[in-house]
Amino acid sequence: MKKKVYIKTWGCQMNDHDSHLIQNILIKEKYIIEINPEISDILILNTCSIREKAQKKVFDQLGRWKKFKEKNKNLIIAVGGCLATQEGIKIYNRAPFINIIFGPQTIQKLPHLFKKINKKKNFFIDIKLNSLEKFNLNFVKTPKKKYIEYVSIIEGCNQFCSFCIVPYTRGKEISRPSNDILNEIKKLSNHGIREVILLGQNVNAYYEKKKHNKIYDFCDLLTDISKIKKIFRIRYITSHPKKFHNKLIKLYQKIPKLVNFLHLPVQSGSDNILKSMKRGYTISQYEKIISKLKKIRPNMTFSSDFIVGYPGETEKDFKNTLDFIKKINFDTSFSFLYSKRPKTKAAKLNDSISLEKKKKRLQILQKQIKLQALQWRRRMLGTIQQILVEGSNILNNTIEFFGKTENNRRVYFLGNEKHLGTLVNVKIININYHSFLKGKLL
Ligand code: SAH
Ligand code: SF4
Ligand code: F3S
Repeated sequence: MKKKVYIKTWGCQMNDHDSHLIQNILIKEKYIIEINPEISDILILNTCSIREKAQKKVFDQLGRWKKFKEKNKNLIIAVGGCLATQEGIKIYNRAPFINIIFGPQTIQKLPHLFKKINKKKNFFIDIKLNSLEKFNLNFVKTPKKKYIEYVSIIEGCNQFCSFCIVPYTRGKEISRPSNDILNEIKKLSNHGIREVILLGQNVNAYYEKKKHNKIYDFCDLLTDISKIKKIFRIRYITSHPKKFHNKLIKLYQKIPKLVNFLHLPVQSGSDNILKSMKRGYTISQYEKIISKLKKIRPNMTFSSDFIVGYPGETEKDFKNTLDFIKKINFDTSFSFLYSKRPKTKAAKLNDSISLEKKKKRLQILQKQIKLQALQWRRRMLGTIQQILVEGSNILNNTIEFFGKTENNRRVYFLGNEKHLGTLVNVKIININYHSFLKGKLL
């Protein structure tokens, strides 16, 4: 009988994408993907360890799954993702009822490991890094009526920002061969995909050595992707300000398919903090990137990531961050309370700010971010926006079609089936339509 597999995923788009690959691999091996864990034969937890909270969630979840195992001794529990690489065998020591620990770069081995589980040996661990083998299995299979897809271009990170666990959990940067990426995107476009979101912790570090030692970089890749006719839009996450060179900025002039929106994490508005974080840029360098982009694309909007309460963050540092958010006038951003991670450089720093103070700062910062996102939304009223039509819903007894603007706002409009998978222009006529935008087809 076919085995049923339930997959639970936490973390960033990389983890989501990995889980998507796991699904593909398992379906190919004749497993069934199940949405109810209670009736599944195999449970997979794809974990994240970016902050301590994410880590704690894992053991809470495993505690719940332990009960299923008590009822069904043959249940296989596999734990993968970033916490798996970070903690390794320690996860098993704490939760000895699990059967497999796998890492972000060993997902392709899962079917083999499932077959190996038997009474003689009931536990396996394989968390090796530095392999792109998983992508060789990435046969393109997209459901009908899907128009947007993630495509991984680079794994790992060499930056070692002082606060961040990712270089330890995902290993060194390894770029996928450009031919594989381009072939995958071409295939996706033949299956109906019209927008690709290129994935990596540091996409602008993309690097490939071609013949005669010629370097093929992120800009070359973007240029080649833009030549694929049926791809209408290109996004990427995440790029790093340190390697956001002029060559990349200039592409915004040459490639209209690059969306008018950029998520560029700055983390702090204070040079002292940026230095301690080892981010490799100053505030004025970051600002220059934004102003150069705005020169080419005056309507471009930006979002960012912020860490609040980093060790040694003074009231002045915090104020600088707040002022910087206002100055750049970021659209929707993400902000997090600093969380101490094992092995990282910042973990050794003296952290004297009280949790109460940190929380207060985060609250103030998030209020500002929310206000700006709302203001950006208000500004959209009456404007003409281009959206990629992704689907339809029944709202107020009528079928309404929807798609996202370049700055990721969902817009509903009255359209029809033929608009699916196409770019259409709509005029924004309501900015508070079931908490989305409402547009009129032009
Ligand atoms: N590669 C991306 C970020 C990946 S992690 C970059 O360099 O920008 C996503 C976000 O999580 C980071 O931008 C940061 O804001 C946050 N983050 C990472 N480590 C953190 C930590 N230890 N505590 C709090 N937030 C953290
Ligand atoms: Fe982490 Fe820095 Fe790498 Fe981003 S660039 S993944 S924050 S180490
Ligand atoms: Fe989390 Fe790993 Fe992504 S730590 S944020 S799942 S790279």
